[in-house]
Amino acid sequence: MLAWTVDHTSPDHLSLREVPDLVPGPHDAVIQVQAFAPNHGDLEALPLLPDGTIPGWDAAGIVVAEAADGTGPRLGEVVTSLGPDSAWAQRRLVTAESVGIAPAGADPNAMSVVPVAATSALRGLRRLGPVLGRRILVLGGTSAVGLFAVQLAARAGADVVATTRNPAARERLAGLGAHEVVASPSELSEDVSGVLDLLGGSHLVQAFARLAPGGTLVALGHAAGEEEFFGYGDLFGDAGRHDRSLTTFFLGAEIALGPDMTWLATEIRSGRLDPVVTAVRPWHELPDVFTAGTERSYGKVVLTVG
Ligand SMILES: NC(=O)c1ccc[n+]([C@@H]2O[C@H](COP(=O)([O-])OP(=O)(O)OC[C@H]3O[C@@H](n4cnc5c(N)ncnc54)[C@H](OP(=O)(O)O)[C@@H]3O)[C@@H](O)[C@H]2O)c1
Repeated sequence: MLAWTVDHTSPDHLSLREVPDLVPGPHDAVIQVQAFAPNHGDLEALPLLPDGTIPGWDAAGIVVAEAADGTGPRLGEVVTSLGPDSAWAQRRLVTAESVGIAPAGADPNAMSVVPVAATSALRGLRRLGPVLGRRILVLGGTSAVGLFAVQLAARAGADVVATTRNPAARERLAGLGAHEVVASPSELSEDVSGVLDLLGGSHLVQAFARLAPGGTLVALGHAAGEEEFFGYGDLFGDAGRHDRSLTTFFLGAEIALGPDMTWLATEIRSGRLDPVVTAVRPWHELPDVFTAGTERSYGKVVLTVG
C-alpha cells in the first residue's frame, strides 16, 4: 500500500512511498482509509519520529476486514479511528477500543476530525464536572480542540467564555456558542468556575488567577509554546481562592473512548456539532498543507486518500 512515512532526508520530514502490507493481529480489523485530518501535535512530532514511521492519529475509513477474534467493527462499517500514528496511509489496523462507528450516510471527511480534536474537547470538559449554569473559559477558543470545546460546553449548559487574539475570529466563536469572547483571561468581566486550557504559558497562569473557589483548570494544550511561572501568592487559598485545582490531561491515556467517538460522530452527522472543516484536499498535497500552516483559517484541514 501507499503511505506517507517519516523521511528525515526530506525537508518536510515526509515521503509518500510504497510500504509492506499490514499484518493484522487477532484483535485488529483493517480499514481502507478515506480521509485523515492532521493535528497540531502530529506536525510537532514529525521531526522526533523514527524514519519509516507512518504518522498521524486521526483517520476515517471503511472496514475491509474484520478482526479474527470477532471483536470490533463490522465489514462495510465506516469508522473514525484514533492512533497513535499509522493514519496517513491507504489502510490502517484498528481495534474495538480505537474506533467510533459512523452513522449511515456520514461524510468520511467530517468523521476524520473526531478522534483527537473532538474527543479531547469532550473528555477535557468532563474533567470540569457538571457545567450547567456555570461560567467556563475555553482558553484558545480557535484551536481545533477549542472550537469543539466551545460547542460542547454550550450544549452542556455552560456560560461559555472563549479567548482569541484575533478580533476577526470573535464572530465565529460566538456563532459556535460562546457567550463572551476576550483576547486574554485578564479581560474577563467575572471569574470562572472552570478552564479548559489549550495554550499554557502565561495564559495558564493568568487563567488560574481568575478561577473561582472550587474551580478546576484542565491543562490540555500548550499551543503558546511558553513556560509557566507562578509567582509567590499565586497558589494561595484564601476566602476568594479556596480549593482551586490544576490537572493535566493526555488523550492517549484515556480509556473506553469508542462510545464517546461514536456519539460525536452521530452529533456531527445530525448537524448538531459543526466539524469545523475548513478545507478538503487530496492527500498528495499533505506537505503543502504544512507549509501553509500559519496561513490556514481556524479549524481542520482534511486530506482525502486515493
Ligand atoms: N493533551 C492532549 O491529549 C492533547 C490532545 C489534543 C491537542 N493537544 C494540544 O492542544 C493544543 C491545541 O491543539 P490544536 O490542534 O487544537 O491547536 P491549533 O488548532 O493549532 O490552534 C492553536 C491556537 O492557539 C492559539 N495560539 C497559538 N499561539 C499562541 C500564543 N503564542 N499565544 C496565544 N494563543 C496562541 C491560536 O489562536 P488565536 O490565533 O485565535 O489567538 C490558535 O488558534 C496543542 O498544544 C496540542 O498539542 C493536547
